[in-house]
Amino acid sequence: MKALFDLAPRALRLLAPEEAHELTLRALELGAHPNAPPDPPMLATSFAGLTLSNPIGIAAGFDKDARVPDAILRLGCGFAEIGTVTPLPQPGNPKPRVFRLLHDHGVINRLGFNNSGHDAALERLRRRPRQGIVGVNIGANKDAADRIADYVRGIDTFYDVASYFTINISSPNTPGLRDLQDPAALRDLLTRVFASRTKQMDAGKPKRPIIVKLAPDIPEELLVEVLAVLTEQNVDGIAISNTTLSRHGLRDSNAREAGGLSGRPLFHRSTITLARVYRATGGRTPLIGIGGIDSGGAALAKIEAGATLVQLYTGLIYEGPSLIGRIKATMADAVRRHNVHAIGDLVGRRADEWAAKPLEG
Ligand code: FNR
Repeated sequence: MKALFDLAPRALRLLAPEEAHELTLRALELGAHPNAPPDPPMLATSFAGLTLSNPIGIAAGFDKDARVPDAILRLGCGFAEIGTVTPLPQPGNPKPRVFRLLHDHGVINRLGFNNSGHDAALERLRRRPRQGIVGVNIGANKDAADRIADYVRGIDTFYDVASYFTINISSPNTPGLRDLQDPAALRDLLTRVFASRTKQMDAGKPKRPIIVKLAPDIPEELLVEVLAVLTEQNVDGIAISNTTLSRHGLRDSNAREAGGLSGRPLFHRSTITLARVYRATGGRTPLIGIGGIDSGGAALAKIEAGATLVQLYTGLIYEGPSLIGRIKATMADAVRRHNVHAIGDLVGRRADEWAAKPLEG
């Protein structure tokens, strides 16, 4: 089964991207995947009060409708994140809307939050065993009159089934969504979202971590203000980053497509931004490093730039799921080489170096 799975990336490339994705989800739903061996203790880590057997997850957008969180965990991920989910189902943008950039090992997508809505995802999450860490990534419907209210509904709806929440205000494919990253709007959003969590906690429920996912395109001066708001509001974590609108250094003809760019061309920009956030927050807020991880070395670089956890999506399209095991081997090797106890001891050790690099070097 493992050998078959390793061939999958090449075979799937013969299909249109969305068809290939649907086939992958169906295979995972059927359980047609190898189960990973247990993790070595040195990969165990903690994040905002959660304990994970390893720091690797698959990023939001892979399992938008919560169809396969347990298969993701069995593949060897330390956590899964479903979504982005919006209160009402919505079809997203017209197809084609996902493009591979084979020359650049990237993807451009302009899906626009296609998903089956809160009810469908909640139903699936209620049916699954309450084991493993499964986060819920929440967003707003395209034509919502009050977008912030959609995030509040996300917290209320999924509070009993989510291990943590990610507030996605960084997708470039819902017009105006990234405006929620403006400091005043962000403060308003977080005040309402945290009030909704407080209501749940007052009813005797546990504290669920709330993470904010940022774009890698926030100008430097604005980033300082955004981080001030996130710190003031005491967010439990920051995820960096979503896809980029930058088209720097691309060779593939699909580079002209509109949408968010992910994969290898995003690695540099997202890792530098991650390191800058790590430095600006003094390492006090735990970070999830996302963007262009397609090797063990790239994942380790995220940890060294300041990430406590990492997530990947596009790398899986090009490398297949065996990438997860390879990343773990590299991380375990680094722990031994540096003579430390666990992967967490390496977080941020090269943040200064990464933060000093130019974004478009
Ligand atoms: C995404 N991403 C994404 N992010 C998010 O917060 N909600 C979402 O619904 C989606 N949807 C989505 C669809 C597709 C097809 C892609 C490629 C990406 C962004 C994703 O979670 C991640 O932040 C970026 O893709 C960068 O990581 P990689 O892909 O370079 O590892």
